[in-house]
Amino acid sequence: MTRKKLLVTGGAGFIGGNFVQYMVNKYPQYDIYNLDLLTYAGDLTKHKEIQEKDNYFFVKADIADRETILNLFEKEQFDYVIHFAAESHVDRSITDPEVFVRTNVMGTQVLLDAARLNNITKFVHVSTDEVYGELDFNPTTFFTEETPLQPNSPYSASKASSDLLVRAYHETFGLPVNITRCSNNYGPYHFPEKLIPLTISRVLNDEKVPVYGDGKNIRDWLHVLDHCAAIDLVMHEGINGEVYNVGGHNERTNLEVVKTIISTLGKSEDLIEFVKDRLGHDKRYAIDPTKLENLGWKPTYTFETGIAQTIQWYLDNKEWWEQIISGEYQNYFQNQYSLK
Ligand code: NAD
Ligand code: DAU
Repeated sequence: MTRKKLLVTGGAGFIGGNFVQYMVNKYPQYDIYNLDLLTYAGDLTKHKEIQEKDNYFFVKADIADRETILNLFEKEQFDYVIHFAAESHVDRSITDPEVFVRTNVMGTQVLLDAARLNNITKFVHVSTDEVYGELDFNPTTFFTEETPLQPNSPYSASKASSDLLVRAYHETFGLPVNITRCSNNYGPYHFPEKLIPLTISRVLNDEKVPVYGDGKNIRDWLHVLDHCAAIDLVMHEGINGEVYNVGGHNERTNLEVVKTIISTLGKSEDLIEFVKDRLGHDKRYAIDPTKLENLGWKPTYTFETGIAQTIQWYLDNKEWWEQIISGEYQNYFQNQYSLK
């Protein structure tokens, strides 16, 4: 039997990186190609335990580089494409939206063209619940797959645009696609510009934690390994053309998240500093995952077990995040925040 070839874009980033490790270890019969441009958010040191494995390959490339991508697809004849590569941080999209359109929209379109010209079995487009816009604080309302797209940030607008292109390539060309829309992920290798790893790393260094506005905005947290299992399931069992929401009913206010981390690490809440709110800050995200549960998915982490595991991981892997926050990140942080 010929071996299946899987192309994972963005496999040097947070979720794509966890997914690559999960797939390389779970499916020795698949060849896993990690394609990544290695932007500020990508690093390969996280893959030291799999990099020598026979079923792992790395390709440095830009998904928006049409010629390179078309040549690669023609040469390798991938069976599956799992598309994570993106600019992913909302705050950066407010400061500099252009690269979000280039990578998230144009890059996705290049991959779709390459996929339709080369007879792939499945294209899974990893999207986000942020394309639905925001919910109010009524705890009985949730995003379903039928919720209209109403993105509010340049980041979520670029992701919604890419979702529409994926849908159009299914309708027009019959490309076998799925779109997944996941809530906020957390876990190992989360880049320390995002709320949870930023809080853990700063609290460990006894530095102030910037909380936007009043800290009452709500996010629905999902452990990254539960997200990886969801994508594995959708890739193998998803019905072509369908969208699947991914989330585990773990809603917390930002202040609750920050206070949980501070108390787990035995530090003082005096570290919290309320700062100017994010522009267009979405109030609440919350996922109804019924459709994916009916396909056979169930999360294994609660927020309590997941955050404890994650905090322990950051304690055990200081060298990984310390090397990030000591570099160019310092400039980003100074420009983004003015902390006392
Ligand atoms: P990330 O920022 O940690 O990683 C993105 C990766 O993409 C990096 O390795 C980067 O080098 C690579 N990349 C960027 N531009 C590229 C280009 N032009 N060509 C090739 N590679 C490029 O992102 P993440 O948090 O792991 O998110 C992955 C995907 O999941 C994104 O599509 C994001 O929209 C989606 N998503 C993220 C979350 C979350 O909570 N982080 C939740 C739902 C959906
Ligand atoms: O919902 C899925 C999305 O989750 C993904 O599509 C995005 O790629 C991912 O970055 C994440 O977006 P958020 O904007 O929700 O994540 P972030 O960690 O940036 O912020 C979480 C919440 O914490 C949000 O309400 C803003 C707030 N926040 C964030 C930062 C960085 C703060 O209060 N202070 C901060 O310094």
